[in-house]
Amino acid sequence: MKILVTGGCGFIGSHTCCELLEHNYEVVIIDNLSHSQEDVVDKIKTITNKNLKFYKGDLRDKELVDKIFRQENIDAVIHLASLKVVSESVKKPILYYQNNIESTLTLLEIMTKYKCKKLIFSSSATIYGNPEKLPIKENFSLHATNPYSSTKLYIEGILKDLYNSDNEWAIAVLRFFNPIGSHKSYLIGENPQDIPDNLMSYIVGVATGKLDLLNVFGDDYNTKDGTGVRDYIHVVDLAVGHLKAIELINQTSGIDFYNLGTGNEYSVLEIINAFEKVNNVKIKYIMTARRPGDIEAFYADCTHAKEKLNFEATKGLEEMVRDSYEYAKRNS
Ligand code: UD1
Repeated sequence: MKILVTGGCGFIGSHTCCELLEHNYEVVIIDNLSHSQEDVVDKIKTITNKNLKFYKGDLRDKELVDKIFRQENIDAVIHLASLKVVSESVKKPILYYQNNIESTLTLLEIMTKYKCKKLIFSSSATIYGNPEKLPIKENFSLHATNPYSSTKLYIEGILKDLYNSDNEWAIAVLRFFNPIGSHKSYLIGENPQDIPDNLMSYIVGVATGKLDLLNVFGDDYNTKDGTGVRDYIHVVDLAVGHLKAIELINQTSGIDFYNLGTGNEYSVLEIINAFEKVNNVKIKYIMTARRPGDIEAFYADCTHAKEKLNFEATKGLEEMVRDSYEYAKRNS
């Protein structure tokens, strides 16, 4: 089977490509390299000792997407390409709507043209907004709290409409929780912008001396120690989740939605403590005010992914914090 991975040079994309190649899928990447580097393609080849095809370009370039489908005989698409920084999306909503939604529409139009009707879409747990209870199930109400999550929510709606219009489509929507860690080769991992938004990227920045100190956003939440609680999942586990989803959409048409997390709940302080202990390094931090728009706690109910995708995360917190640091040390 030949899989087109959009955004295949990114953090989740590169790990997913490795997983696919290691399981004998053929891989074609399209990536505009806006937040990734081309050398990732060679790194994926080195890790897997397999070949793959790379197209540099934007999904909104209809001619290019058409050319890829004409030349490659694509069987299924894993659509990961997306802008994803929440704070940036609040400042530049049009950019986010244009980039994330227009690109998806172009992709779907060309997929329809070439009768390629198998799709995995990367959505985000952020679309649950402030959940009414925990853990979060897929049938909870959805509520976008910023333009980034709005784009994910709109696209989920577009995919539902698409399936309703044509029941031959097989669509798996994967709602990611908080991916961290890196591949064991430490050749690929997360490469955040200069001042990262995400907790693990910031911790790693402090640990490697690039950043002075971590601001812990709020210690007065109604959680075990007052700091925010999340469901962190190893990026290799997340990549395996994509593989399971491919296996499913290969067998049956339909549209379904899956939480990809671990179901474990860790506070900011627990993450810092685990990072310090496992990596034997001190993280300088101070308690500061809550980050506007932040959610107190969210973690997944993973039953549906387990039952339908036969997916269960296997990597624990120790491995996640070790791999995050190891990658950063070798690549900074
Ligand atoms: C963020 C995004 C979300 C995205 C998710 C996974 C927001 C509002 N949401 O969610 O869309 O899907 O990442 O990539 O940004 N924290 C600190 N100090 C920091 C950074 C974070 O204390 O410097 C805390 C946060 O307050 C939170 C936890 O760490 O309690 C996790 O934050 P973060 O890594 O930004 O992820 P999310 O807020 O879950």
